[in-house]
Amino acid sequence: MSLRSNILDLRKRKREVQKGGGDKAIEKQAKMGKLTARERILSLLDKKSFHEYDLFAEHSATGFGMESKTLHGDGVIIGTGTINNKPICIYAQDFTVAGGSLGLMHARKITKIMDHALKMRVPLIGINDSGGARIQEGVNSLAGYGEIFFRNTLASGVIPQISVILGPCAGGAVYSPALTDFVFVVENISKMFITGPSVIKTVLGEDISMEELGGAKVHAEITGNAHFYAKTEMECFQQIKDLISYIPRSNSKKAIPYPPKAPGKGKKVEDIVPSDPRIPYDMRDIIISLTDGTEFLEVMEYFAPNIIIGFARMEGETVGFVANQPMVLAGVLDCDSSDKAARFIRYCDAFNIPIVTLEDMPGYLPGVDQEHAGVIRHGAKILYAYSEATVPKVTVILRKAYGGGYIAMNSRHLRADFVFAWPTAEIAVMGPEGAANIVFRKEIAESENPEEMRKQKVEEYKKKFANPYVAAAQGYIDEVIEPKETRARILHALKVSENKSVFLPNKKHGIPPF
Ligand code: HXC
Repeated sequence: MSLRSNILDLRKRKREVQKGGGDKAIEKQAKMGKLTARERILSLLDKKSFHEYDLFAEHSATGFGMESKTLHGDGVIIGTGTINNKPICIYAQDFTVAGGSLGLMHARKITKIMDHALKMRVPLIGINDSGGARIQEGVNSLAGYGEIFFRNTLASGVIPQISVILGPCAGGAVYSPALTDFVFVVENISKMFITGPSVIKTVLGEDISMEELGGAKVHAEITGNAHFYAKTEMECFQQIKDLISYIPRSNSKKAIPYPPKAPGKGKKVEDIVPSDPRIPYDMRDIIISLTDGTEFLEVMEYFAPNIIIGFARMEGETVGFVANQPMVLAGVLDCDSSDKAARFIRYCDAFNIPIVTLEDMPGYLPGVDQEHAGVIRHGAKILYAYSEATVPKVTVILRKAYGGGYIAMNSRHLRADFVFAWPTAEIAVMGPEGAANIVFRKEIAESENPEEMRKQKVEEYKKKFANPYVAAAQGYIDEVIEPKETRARILHALKVSENKSVFLPNKKHGIPPF
């Protein structure tokens, strides 16, 4: 054959394989409101940047009629490309080919691109749309998952790992996403569960829809498995592009800075917080008043909303924010918010992103439910994460900083580099009402007018302890600042921390309260 006919033959072969599971299966995919695996990759990556590998890979399974089955690309597309000109490795499972199920070759393709991502120190993006372990390939499918999980774990904290759930993600398929850093879900499309409704019906006799069992909302709001929730696949891809813009390509780099911007023209920082500590406000307004422009990429927005985590920029540099949200449960720490914050702190620490903590909260949430849910174990995670983090750490106490919450929210004692407090800050073992009731119980009970006495004692306690000056006198906070100075103070603190160098005791690894 001439070169020309060889090229024509190659093109024909490519076209054939690129059809995936064929027109009927693609039609079914479209009917479900889903893009194909190839369309997804092309929509997410920069135009013409995608380079594919192992397009012609085929399974070699036998039995169950597999010998006669052609599974194009073995149900997964792998390759490299760029997003906003930043290199990434990617795989996308093709549901049109045997339901995107994972057989031996399918797993080999995924692990090949994972190895590449780790070696080249670039982010890995996995688009999941799969029925799980390919039943016909038995233990080889399970082996494939094991190889993927092992690599997810090795790569953890070295390169960013992003999972996008764009279809069913059943059985073994859910654990790779669970081992990665960020999980993206889309309304009506994403489903994640260990065992599907039919198994639940058989084993437990219960009827439940896929959506109720493990739909996008379930994971964004209840389980905390998902970090980003979108209404459409295209919105999801935009969220991924935004995330990539904030994070470095590996743990040996810093995020690439953007041109600095002044804060957006929202509310002024000094006008947001009500002087009555019982009146809530939206902490997001504070974050936006401190950062460049109005952009703030909130992570896990719908899970444990009593704490806010996310990325923004200050003078063009990426900063991770951890902030109590007084609008929800007064911003208390509980099991879920501790988990949420701790994981984010570890992410920022692993990827050289400084952490700014904004504090206004009455402590850990009391009650039997929380105690029995393990608030001691979960609450310890945030203490561990802040203590271990060696990136620059700045704290601003806006109003309440009570009890364990004061310590947990990146206090000096957990090695914050800079701690600032507004004059409205109340740093105390507990809130004035609770404290006065305990400390002055006798006086209140024995008084002729207990209610009046209680009020008086609460005021006395407030004057003495519910302010920032006792902590300032001890050097536990570095400076009491006016609200309008906050951005400048944080910026300066981050600037002088740029070259921060801290050494932890040598060890194989710690034992965090997982
Ligand atoms: C082989 C599979 C498959 C699988 C789907 N297919 N899942 N083939 N192994 N695990 C095939 C179907 O036979 C079908 O092939 C095509 O993919 C499309 O599937 P449908 O069922 O027609 O699609 P849909 O109605 O949309 O339902 C999707 C689904 C369902 C909900 C994912 O297929 C399903 O429940 N599959 C099994 C899910 C599951 O329990 N997985 C766990 C596996 S065990 P044809 O040829 O007809 O088009 C596991 C353990 C690993 O993963 C543990 C590691 C820790």
